[in-house]
Amino acid sequence: MTVQNGAKTAATTARRADPCCLVIFGASGDLTHRLLLPALYNLAVEGLLPEAFGLIGVARSASSSEAFAGDLAKSLPKFATRDIDQSAVKRVLSCVAYVQGDPDDNETYRKIGQELTRIEREHGTKGNRLFYLATPPAGFAPIGTHLGESGLAREENGAWRRVVIEKPFGTDLASARALNQKLLGVLNEDQIFRIDHYLGKETVQNIMVLRFANGLFEPIWNRHHIEHVQITVAESLTVGRRGNYYDATGALRDMVPNHLFQLLSLIAMEPPSRFAADAVRAEKAQLLDAVQLQSHDEAPRNCVRAQYGDGYVDNHAVDAYRKTADVNPDSTTETYVALKLMIDNWRWAQVPFYLRTGKALRAKQSEVAIKFKQAPVAMFRDTPIDRLAENFLVIGIQPNECIGLEFNAKIPGPSIAIGGVGMTFKYEDFFDVAPSTGYETLIYDCMIGDAILYPRADGIEAGWRAVQPFLDAWRETPVKALPTYRAGSEGPKEADELLARDGRRWRPIA
Ligand code: BG6
Repeated sequence: MTVQNGAKTAATTARRADPCCLVIFGASGDLTHRLLLPALYNLAVEGLLPEAFGLIGVARSASSSEAFAGDLAKSLPKFATRDIDQSAVKRVLSCVAYVQGDPDDNETYRKIGQELTRIEREHGTKGNRLFYLATPPAGFAPIGTHLGESGLAREENGAWRRVVIEKPFGTDLASARALNQKLLGVLNEDQIFRIDHYLGKETVQNIMVLRFANGLFEPIWNRHHIEHVQITVAESLTVGRRGNYYDATGALRDMVPNHLFQLLSLIAMEPPSRFAADAVRAEKAQLLDAVQLQSHDEAPRNCVRAQYGDGYVDNHAVDAYRKTADVNPDSTTETYVALKLMIDNWRWAQVPFYLRTGKALRAKQSEVAIKFKQAPVAMFRDTPIDRLAENFLVIGIQPNECIGLEFNAKIPGPSIAIGGVGMTFKYEDFFDVAPSTGYETLIYDCMIGDAILYPRADGIEAGWRAVQPFLDAWRETPVKALPTYRAGSEGPKEADELLARDGRRWRPIA
């Protein structure tokens, strides 16, 4: 990731990535076609894709290098986020190979090795290899182990070998630890890139810049001035065709230890000593490690889980979650979760962090809202303190990419009447942002070996440790049915009650 001064677009001065060969496991899947390929294409357009670049697809299905290259060429125009320029297409697809094989079979790795050696010789990719595990999670440990044991991922003669692991990284603390252990048995930590696509979002990366490139915020970024924080990742999407995955996963596992905790740690971490991977990742991990572990009695009080029922989203009728294909009709998997977390450190003691995420809600809206303390005295007799507008700094992540400040102002007129007003910075007003997939920076960073946007093993485990008490509480008190919320609403009333208990309310999902 590069940061530049005063530029309307950022990629121009970044250096071209190292020559390398990208090996995608699960190459026939959706991720490759919808996101990875368009992201590679965007990198090529920006002049950031290496001059010497090879792409090897690995999957079980029968195909050939020619057919695979043809499939990619066909799907690129479908999923590209920018106009197609044939010379950039050529750069991405100039050297494509396909290896058919079972990811559990040694023979597959022998064939991959053969292709790598050929491409390295014929295309000058210098032995640098990026293995991308775009497979279902069950594949992560076995493929990682094979890559390590076969020697394909061994770094030698100055060449780098890196492995990207998609999410979800584990399903609880024990499985995340076991996966880390497996991978770290055959690879070094600095070879492992655990992806979280939230970190590919410009607005998420900007949280660090907002906090640490401005002298304005840091002095008031603490319990003396901040009263509470709300982190919302609301989706209007339903579970759709992902019933199989989702019913075994639920909103908490799907979103909280990864995406919401990335937002939480960027918002709340201490300033890193340097803008460098290890310094940033250490602070993020420390922050997650400071999340107060809920006791057996506290956990159920500080969380809400619910499921969507029938309703309408964007004027379209939506069936209740339990009626979704591949979902157990008696399912008690949550499609909505809200948590109240406390952070045990000097900066944040006594400042609640409220997190919520859910499917089939009124709108897609991700934001972090920081509520500052109210003015301490009622100086204006006609407007009591509790009628003053609340001071919120709102970081809009998506779809509104913005930063807004809400405060009080005098309503023009002869008497002192006070009204809530707002100032908003919108990215689109200041920067020319070419539409992207969100994977460009992440892939590019892997190619240049910058792990700043990739969580480390300790960060991942700290995240799971913080949510484990909720998972335990749910397991220990099975229920026949969860509270429901109407599809297209702002969530269950129980989530409102969670904040009402503290005299607060959620910001609207508009
Ligand atoms: C994925 C989850 O990681 O993130 C999905 O598995 C979710 O369930 C998605 O819809 C949300 O991502 P975004 O970028 O649309 O907010």
